[in-house]
Amino acid sequence: MDWGMKNRMAQLIQADGHCLFLPVDHGYFQGPTRKLEEPRKTIEPLLPYADALFITRGVLRSSVDPNNSKPIILRVSGGTSMVGKDLANEGITTSIEEAIRLNVAAMGLSIFVGTDYEHDSLLNLARLVNEGEKYGIPVMAVTAVGKELGKRDARFLALSSRIAAELGARVVKTYWCEDFEKVVRGCPVPIVMAGGPQVDTELEVFEFVHDGMQKGAIGVNLGRNIWQNDFPVAMIKAIRAIIHENASPKEAQELYESVKGETVIGCE
Ligand code: 5RP
Repeated sequence: MDWGMKNRMAQLIQADGHCLFLPVDHGYFQGPTRKLEEPRKTIEPLLPYADALFITRGVLRSSVDPNNSKPIILRVSGGTSMVGKDLANEGITTSIEEAIRLNVAAMGLSIFVGTDYEHDSLLNLARLVNEGEKYGIPVMAVTAVGKELGKRDARFLALSSRIAAELGARVVKTYWCEDFEKVVRGCPVPIVMAGGPQVDTELEVFEFVHDGMQKGAIGVNLGRNIWQNDFPVAMIKAIRAIIHENASPKEAQELYESVKGETVIGCE
């Protein structure tokens, strides 16, 4: 691995081998989704606790201070919307020159295995890897978003994750599932877990993050279950404790409650 690639990977994956990526890219197909209506307000209080931000160029330029940032994973696929025909029909939306200009640590793109656009999205990934490798920029492949979430089982996620790794992704983002160790075992590059739509209790999030870490994930790329929570700073601190301090779900819950207790809603 060349120095630039190694350096970028080291910006993303911390010295303990783990990472907490904060995705705030959802607007690229969801528009001003709940609690991300004004991205700067969502991002600023959480930034100190994230190891990297997953974000589009538009929100990066408009809503993140270049003097006070974290490593950037640039979302470079899109071209669809919640109200359009098919979320899987994404293309590459950003050039490699733009990624270099923005000094990003990585680029991220979705693949849609099992859909009508499987072939296109996998070739998008391969092309992006070709460009990224030329300039030492790693690619994170994002598996199974949108309707594909229905297929949240180990067999499907292992298939998608392995294909992403085979095509050259340096990191794969997938979802936690039962038998998650099968997904990790079949994927020869590091795996991070997304959260998906907000779940009912904080403890559920702490439990799946903890279980996934025990089974070999290196961290999370977890958004809505942090910033849609009423106490997002408490939430990110608790998840950080699981990832970087090996906290149990119970310890994470206690930390969440104690940070929440010091907080007035909306004034974290
Ligand atoms: C959305 C994404 C997100 O980065 C990913 O889904 C993680 O966010 P969440 O934890 O909210 O699911 O790719 O396009």
